[in-house]
Amino acid sequence: MADVTVPQAAPAPDLSVRIGSATLRAPVIAASGCYNKGDEFGRLTDVGRYGAITLKSITRYPRLGNDMPRLAMTPAGLLNAIGLQGPGLDHFLHHVAPALQDVPTAVIASAAGFSVDEFVTVAAALDGLPNVVAIELDVSCPNVEREGRCFAADAASLAQVVAAVKQRVRLPVIPKLMPNVTDIRPIARAAQDAGADAISLINAVRGLVIDVERAQPVLANAAGGLTGPAIRPIAVHAVWEAAQVVTIPIIGMGGIAEGTDALEFLFAGATAVAIGTANFRRPDVHLRVLEAIEREMFRRGCRRVGELTGLANPGFAGPRPAAGL
Ligand SMILES: Cc1cc2nc3c(=O)[nH]c(=O)nc-3n(C[C@H](O)[C@H](O)[C@H](O)COP(=O)(O)O)c2cc1C
Repeated sequence: MADVTVPQAAPAPDLSVRIGSATLRAPVIAASGCYNKGDEFGRLTDVGRYGAITLKSITRYPRLGNDMPRLAMTPAGLLNAIGLQGPGLDHFLHHVAPALQDVPTAVIASAAGFSVDEFVTVAAALDGLPNVVAIELDVSCPNVEREGRCFAADAASLAQVVAAVKQRVRLPVIPKLMPNVTDIRPIARAAQDAGADAISLINAVRGLVIDVERAQPVLANAAGGLTGPAIRPIAVHAVWEAAQVVTIPIIGMGGIAEGTDALEFLFAGATAVAIGTANFRRPDVHLRVLEAIEREMFRRGCRRVGELTGLANPGFAGPRPAAGL
C-alpha cells in the first residue's frame, strides 16, 4: 500500500500573555472608561475573545464629574474632560460587582483616588471580586496631600501609592502612567521599584480646544485629555522608553485603531495593548486588531505572541517568552 502523508495541522498560535500572576487569553484589552463592563458590546462583537475588559475607574465617593460640555472632536482625536464621573465605591460593590461574574473574559478593575488612603481603600475593596484578575491604578489624579500634583507626574508620589496598595492587595497591581511628564523613564522605574507587577501607558494627553466664534474654550473645564490617533506616536515613544528601563510587562495604549497600530506598540516593547477611543466608532475593533496580530505571528512564524514584543527596540529590557516554549 502506498505511503500516505497526512498533513499535520499547525499548532494554534499562543495568544496568551502574563501580567504578573494573571494570564490573559489574548493581548488585546478594552481600555478604562471606554467600555463599561462590556454588556452593551456583547451583541456586536465576541467580548469573550478579548484579553480583558478594564472597568471605568472607581473612586471612593460618588462624583458628578465636570460640567458639560465634556467632549470635543478634534481632527484626529477626542478631547474629554469627564472628570471621573461615577457612583463611587459602595454603589459599585453593591450594584455592579455581583454582575462581574457574567463578563465572558477577565476583568481589570481600575481604582482612582486623590490620596494614598483613597487608593488603598478602593483597591483593597476590588481585590477578590468575581472575575477580577488585576487592579489598574489611575494615578493621573492630583495628589491632594502633595501640592496637588498628579501622582503619576512625580516618582515619589507614585512610588508611595503603589507600595501602599501592594501591601493590601493580592492581585497584580498596574499603575497607569500619563504622558505629561518630562521623562517617563524615572517614573516607570519608580513604579517597578515600588512593586508594580506591570505598567499601563499612556493615559490621555492634556489639550485644549477653543471655539473661535465665542472666543471661549469648547469644554466647560477648559482643558481636557486628548485620546485617539493623534496621540499614537507619543504613546509608542513612551512605551519604547519605558521598555528600556523596566522588566515588568507594559500594557500599551493610545490611538490604536488598526492591527498595524497595535503591532507598533508590541514592537516598541508592550506585552499587551488596550483600545479606548476607536471602540466608539468600531465596537469590533478589538477583534480586528487581534486577528491582525495573529496574521503577523503567522507571517513571522511565531508561536507565542510574546515573540513580537520589543522586536523594534534594541534596548528592550522586558519579558520575553522562555526559550524553547
Ligand atoms: C471618554 C473617556 C474616558 C476615560 N476614562 C478613563 C478612566 O476612568 N480611567 C483611566 O485610567 N483612563 C480613562 N480613559 C483613558 C483611556 O483608558 C486610554 O488610556 C486613552 O483613551 C488612550 O487610549 P485610546 O487612544 O485608545 O483611547 C478614558 C478615555 C476616554 C476617551
